Amino acid sequence: MRTDTAQSIRLADYRPSDFLIDTVDLDIRLHPTQTRVIAKLAMKRNPAGTPDAPLVLDGDELVLTSLAIDGRELPADRFIATPDSLTIPNPPATSFVLTVETVLNPSANTKLMGLYRSNSAYCTQCEAEGFRRITYFLDRPDVLSVYTTRIEAYREEAPVLLGNGNPLRTEEAGPGRHAAIWHDPFPKPCYLFALVGGNLDRVSEPFVTMSGRVVELGIYVEPGKAERAVYALDALKRSMRWDEHTFGREYDLDVFNIVAVSDFNMGAMENKGLNVFNDKYVLASPETATDADYEGIERVIAHEYFHNWTGNRITCRDWFQLCLKEGLTVFRDQEFSSDERSRAVHRIGEVKNLRARQFPEDAGPLAHPVRPNQYKEINNFYTTTVYEKGAEIIRMLKTLIGADVFRRGMDLYFERFDGTAATIEQFLSCFSDASGRDLSQFFLWYEQSGTPRVKVSQSFDAAKARYRLDFKQSTPPTPGQPEKQPFVIPVSLGLVTADGSAIEAQADGLENGVFVLDRAEASLTFENIRTCPVPSLFRDFSAPVNCAIDLDDASHLVLLRHDTDPFNRWQAAQTVASRLIRETIANGSLDKAAMDAFASAMRDFMATEAKADPAFAALVLTLPSELDIAREIGSDIDPDAVHDARRLVRTALGKALQADLLKLRDVAAPDDGPYSPDAASSGRRAMNNAALDFITASDPALGEAHCRRQLLNATNMTDRLAALATIAFVPGEAREQELQGFADTYRDEPLVLDKWLAIQALIPEAGTLERITELMQHPTFSLANPNRVRALIGTFAMNNLTQFNRADGKAYDLMIDVITRLDPANPQVAARMLTAFGSWRTMEPQRRTKAQTALERLLRQENLSRDVSDIAQRSLG
Ligand code: TRP
Ligand code: ZN
Repeated sequence: MRTDTAQSIRLADYRPSDFLIDTVDLDIRLHPTQTRVIAKLAMKRNPAGTPDAPLVLDGDELVLTSLAIDGRELPADRFIATPDSLTIPNPPATSFVLTVETVLNPSANTKLMGLYRSNSAYCTQCEAEGFRRITYFLDRPDVLSVYTTRIEAYREEAPVLLGNGNPLRTEEAGPGRHAAIWHDPFPKPCYLFALVGGNLDRVSEPFVTMSGRVVELGIYVEPGKAERAVYALDALKRSMRWDEHTFGREYDLDVFNIVAVSDFNMGAMENKGLNVFNDKYVLASPETATDADYEGIERVIAHEYFHNWTGNRITCRDWFQLCLKEGLTVFRDQEFSSDERSRAVHRIGEVKNLRARQFPEDAGPLAHPVRPNQYKEINNFYTTTVYEKGAEIIRMLKTLIGADVFRRGMDLYFERFDGTAATIEQFLSCFSDASGRDLSQFFLWYEQSGTPRVKVSQSFDAAKARYRLDFKQSTPPTPGQPEKQPFVIPVSLGLVTADGSAIEAQADGLENGVFVLDRAEASLTFENIRTCPVPSLFRDFSAPVNCAIDLDDASHLVLLRHDTDPFNRWQAAQTVASRLIRETIANGSLDKAAMDAFASAMRDFMATEAKADPAFAALVLTLPSELDIAREIGSDIDPDAVHDARRLVRTALGKALQADLLKLRDVAAPDDGPYSPDAASSGRRAMNNAALDFITASDPALGEAHCRRQLLNATNMTDRLAALATIAFVPGEAREQELQGFADTYRDEPLVLDKWLAIQALIPEAGTLERITELMQHPTFSLANPNRVRALIGTFAMNNLTQFNRADGKAYDLMIDVITRLDPANPQVAARMLTAFGSWRTMEPQRRTKAQTALERLLRQENLSRDVSDIAQRSLG
């Protein structure tokens, strides 16, 4: 069958399962190439299903070796088994036990879905539809069962055997073999099943929950790396405590285990009681991990732990409801990180990420609602829209109903839906009940795709002392959605006077500083305003929209200097910088006067903030990226023009601030104490390294000298890598030597070499394409490892604007070649790489044609996976 004829699955077609499975008894006998799986499923008809429907179980590349009902082998004419399904036309009328035996080859499983091997350990990944690669099953999230799992293996090969739930016992299992039996008392969908077997080291610690229960926490890693898991263990304990304090959620099993593996398609997985992690989100030491890595570990550990309540105890009815667990859990991990670190700094980071990844998705051919209503391949819907825009919706809900009512709604949700597979409608019903509000219009955030645009105009009547803001919202068409209804948009706002004093802003319709825009057009009128103020809109980024307001640079600089909202101070600097760059493109030269005004405001800002709040200052100092500028231009993009103009502005700002920044670097206390990844220390490093970047922009030779000194003296990976990243953009012998030296030093550290690959993938020079081809031959690189692919290929295609979008189209061709090679082995990662083509239509015509030709060439290949053909078709559509 040609893959492009794959049928869409539709939300509207949802039907309850015809059968249910009360208990699952698994006996899994691990073997490198012939693992036997014996599954005993206690089945019954679902009263809500279709009477007399046949039993159809899902499979994927399965080999059936035996089948029995209630202990009696089923004759061949009573069932139909194919690699991807098992049908029993006439199953018993009442409940029965189905025994299914399959045989698997985990060593040959390159898709990293189902049971596979990573560095010789056995592990599983079942979300979304991987369990069907282990045994025939009703592989859908609304079938909840209690699991008992016996895992058997050679003791030598796999001394550690882990499963979901609590450990029951271990036993001998014949010559050289042993087994462990695990029982999970909480009914769960099969996507939360997991097992691990291998030779692993462990760090562990008991945790006492809020009600006094003792939970044994364990993190398992490759032998010799236990020390590097200590930070992750600490982050886990902090997450558990935070969920108790903030949401009243307590952990529910006797053990909680995490296993780090090197080959993993995503970040991590929340399997009940047994999280499996990409080792990048577990392993850290000051010598090998950056501040950003530590932050990522803390975030992902928290995210997966929080799923225990938002995802596991309450799961999704079907995969259309994915944002029920993901958007909510991202919101929860964001709140955790904000409480642990600087809230403002964290919020700016979230928004930068949302705009860099989700806004382009919403503006391109892959745009889809936060709750999609159809899909061909569910793996392709683990998107930034479902995750990050999903989290923004929860945040808006909290803004609209207030923190206390939000918490009551959450309590209601846990109370009503614990142990069930729920929908977004059910989730929102808790908040309409808690708040007494009708949330039906708010629901549009889940159903309509596209980023709304809010246009604001202001008018001031000095004689009447009246100031007015007029709002207009509109949302551009997106695939399948030509027309949009108005959203409910919370606009958090305030007024600032030109001299910086805050104004007690009062207007009908403004409550606690929030105006709710829920029509296409609306206005706010402020009385008793004597001098024309500057509006500070969408404070803390109160809604995921594009705001357009006609404010001059001087007004933005007032906000940079005086706004009480740190997010909008950062936004003001970004807005002015972005306009400077875009006007440089349009005019072919830099507006000197505008540049001077900007530099002088930035100098004043740095004079106070660089020391007071260095993490925040580093963000304000960092110019919008080339991708940011390209996104704001939106169409007919010439990446080289973007690069040149940004470079001009960066150099000019660097020159203007050079003396101050050099002084800053001089006084920045060299970290004498032991390295700590906390927010304050990492903030100082961020500021220091942002200064290094500008110094290098203003004077490459001077910058190069600074970089080399820092590479030599750095006591941690953050400073070393920042210097390497900066010098990598200065062409010449020095950078080649430093890159080589770094590779030699870390030749046995794949996660560090990933950073080295990524830095080189970002170089904005014509030679980068060739460098990529060469690096693909480097011993550290492997198409079989998703981290390597993402570091080199992903970084290049997603973040190197000028070199991925070369005018000659050669980088598009390379990408298509890589995807073609990767697809048969790992379609999920291949499809993810292909999403780099999501913005091809925004390029100028020559590049557009090249990208289109490359995509069409890909679609002509035989035997493309459903994952890749789905993305390719939608990208061209
Ligand atoms: N549920 C996981 C998370 O967000 C996502 C995930 C991990 C996943 N591995 C996957 C999704 C493999 C699809 C396929 O925490
Ligand atoms: Zn998640």
